[in-house]
Amino acid sequence: MTPGVKPLIAGNWKMHGTLAEARARAEAVAAGAAGLQADLLVCPPALHVAPVARALRGLAVAVGGQDCHAAAKGAHTGDISAPMLADAGATQVILGHSERRADHAESDAVVRAKVVAALAAGLIPIVCVGETEAERLAGQAEAVVDRQLAESLPEGFAGVIAYEPVWAIGTGRVPTEADIAAIHAAIRAALVARFAGGGQMRILYGGSMKPGNAAAILALPNVDGGLVGGASLVAADFLAIARAAG
Ligand code: PGA
Repeated sequence: MTPGVKPLIAGNWKMHGTLAEARARAEAVAAGAAGLQADLLVCPPALHVAPVARALRGLAVAVGGQDCHAAAKGAHTGDISAPMLADAGATQVILGHSERRADHAESDAVVRAKVVAALAAGLIPIVCVGETEAERLAGQAEAVVDRQLAESLPEGFAGVIAYEPVWAIGTGRVPTEADIAAIHAAIRAALVARFAGGGQMRILYGGSMKPGNAAAILALPNVDGGLVGGASLVAADFLAIARAAG
């Protein structure tokens, strides 16, 4: 945790489930949200953002997208824009997730353009960074994350960073607490060096965060919440992680 920063527990639902399942999960999360120390966010598939936002209206769970296009509108078949997400009731958007970087060849420059678009639409960007296993084994983890931060974040950035080592996503493997703390400290230093308010920006950890390991990870310095994939698909597990935030 960072003193004075309220933790954020964000669920990345990826490409899972029907609308009925999304609504039921969102309602179950909202039903358990009372009294938590953390802010809660759920990020359904784009198709489900509007109905989930309607179901959560007035409740203590925010809704986010998982991606957006860099343009506000135009001839981009199959894409959605940041203003569309905002119009649908989203307040935040995950950008530069490693699955987008890998599956859709998103470069740091593309991610940066999307961050600019999100900010222009009034959305809070959650920008993902993280090294592959080969990069970690080569001793490059910190350098990779530094480069991603330098090139994915525009001037005047205000938002959230998620450190997600690619090899920890969906694998059940997590870095050591010392390794998480070291990268989060490096991210903090980079944010402080470049942005006003960098000392208070949330830095989330993501990658196989579960009820059983959340408390230890969330207690580390500069870990201001979690970006949760698999465990966010079960409302009880997601809420258990949120309770672990203090
Ligand atoms: P995981 O995914 O929790 O299933 O590892 C995290 C993410 O990709 O955001």
